Amino acid sequence: MLECRALRKSYGQRAILTQLDFQLAAGEYVAIMGDSGVGKSSLLNLIAGLDVPDSGSVFIAGTDTSTLNDDQATLLRRQKLGFIFQAFHLLPHLTLHQNVALPLILNHLPADRASQMLAAVGLSGRDDDFPRQLSGGEMQRVAIARALVHKPQLILADEPTGNLDPETAQEVLQLLKNEIRASHASAIIVTHSPAAAATADRILLLTRSGLREISAAEAGLK
Ligand SMILES: Nc1ncnc2c1ncn2[C@@H]1O[C@H](COP(=O)(O)OP(=O)(O)O)[C@@H](O)[C@H]1O
Ligand SMILES: [Mg+2]
Repeated sequence: MLECRALRKSYGQRAILTQLDFQLAAGEYVAIMGDSGVGKSSLLNLIAGLDVPDSGSVFIAGTDTSTLNDDQATLLRRQKLGFIFQAFHLLPHLTLHQNVALPLILNHLPADRASQMLAAVGLSGRDDDFPRQLSGGEMQRVAIARALVHKPQLILADEPTGNLDPETAQEVLQLLKNEIRASHASAIIVTHSPAAAATADRILLLTRSGLREISAAEAGLK
């Protein structure tokens, strides 16, 4: 589903990622852990096509993304990817229904699935509310609904529970995992939480020497 080959990324003189290789199978759910500043968000941004590597390639569903022009890259991102961010990134002037419907509208799909997705994340009947009326946990539920509504093949979540209290974080994670499983999507979740990481099929640790698989026990000791 996703393959990164020999990815290299520097900011100025500082090499962040060097010769990074990574593969994610269809339907696989992995957690990426690692110290702050090690390059986790940078890696997700390269995978998402929001930034370009200095060298190396990202293949999504068999397509070498470096061969796409801007329009093709936008289309691929819009159709095949779903994003969830630590800070939710809901649009404040749109209702919950309108927020969740955005990926459908951009993909010229019927918008009625937005209500079903809101119900699936426990927010049925809240379609006409605005983000400011919600708690953090509820906002992240809406963001999950929005990330999954157009049935993307790859979900990228960057510290999705970083702004939530531990109990809410656990609930949101369970929901995220259930929704990812139900949609048969592949997913990468970046997290500092051993409990969050333990919900994944594999846990990877990003260090200055690259990505390596670690056990749940090792993740807990970090
Ligand atoms: N656009 C940028 N320009 C310059 N430096 C950046 C940029 N984005 C990230 N960095 C630096 O790259 C390093 C890795 O950042 P990041 O990927 O956000 O780390 P993480 O998500 O693991 O905390 C950090 O030192 C950060 O300051
Ligand atoms: Mg980050």
